[in-house]
Amino acid sequence: MAKIYTVASGKGGVGKSTFCANIAVALSEMGKKVLLIDGDATLRCLDLLLGVDEMVLYDWLDVVENRCDSEKARLFYNDNVQLLPAPVEYPDDIDVEKFKGLIDKYSSAYDYIFIDSPAGIGELPEIYAKCCDECIIVATADEVSARSACAMGNKMIKWGIKEEKIRLIINRFDKKAVKRGKLLNIDDIVDKTYIRLLGIVPEEKNLMYASVTEKAFSVNSDVKMAFSNIAGRILGKEIELYL
Ligand SMILES: Nc1ncnc2c1ncn2[C@@H]1O[C@H](COP(=O)(O)OP(=O)(O)OP(=O)(O)O)[C@@H](O)[C@H]1O
Ligand SMILES: [Mg+2]
Repeated sequence: MAKIYTVASGKGGVGKSTFCANIAVALSEMGKKVLLIDGDATLRCLDLLLGVDEMVLYDWLDVVENRCDSEKARLFYNDNVQLLPAPVEYPDDIDVEKFKGLIDKYSSAYDYIFIDSPAGIGELPEIYAKCCDECIIVATADEVSARSACAMGNKMIKWGIKEEKIRLIINRFDKKAVKRGKLLNIDDIVDKTYIRLLGIVPEEKNLMYASVTEKAFSVNSDVKMAFSNIAGRILGKEIELYL
């Protein structure tokens, strides 16, 4: 049975989808099978980041509403990473039971399922939270992001996730900016969010150019190392923070 993660954030645009795509690839390089569920209904993007957008015919709502079977809706990035695209219309009738039913159709075929949640505290993030085993909250190293990550962490606890199952990713970390006092340092972010750290991903321009250059993945060795360390920690290995 797959372990289910929801990847959430308080503030938008902090790097949840980028994280999902890259962690899937990092885990697949360690021999794990990963299903990505694009949970960002109406604003899907993982198909673009994985370069499979032209193959999208169905989405997960089609599976929930029996318009297509579970096999047909999956898109293959490679043998170990597959994607269930998000619906382009908002799924008005979705609820926890139906979404759990969707996950159950895939769970036995994967080691990990990551749900890429929309930002903030809405109906869909709540459904995903109630369907997952663990939650990853992504934040950048600024006050607004840290405060909203803290609020998101509190919400996750209200939605039933145990505190120890909520972990923090600090994304777009820039050591030089921290030294110049332009960004919060790691201790400050952890103190402000009250969330245990899972990993740090450095700022990397190539990730930002991804949708145009088709390099959605960590080409830079620091970023690659960061994702491979995070993947190792997800697998339960003791790996020191890499900066
Ligand atoms: N480590 C990074 N370094 C540089 N740019 C990054 C990094 N991570 C993400 N980005 C860029 O930040 C932007 C937002 O990333 P992304 O779409 O993954 O965020 P998101 O949290 O999923 O957004 P949304 O809340 O809209 O779903 C993108 O342009 C992406 O390429
Ligand atoms: Mg996103």
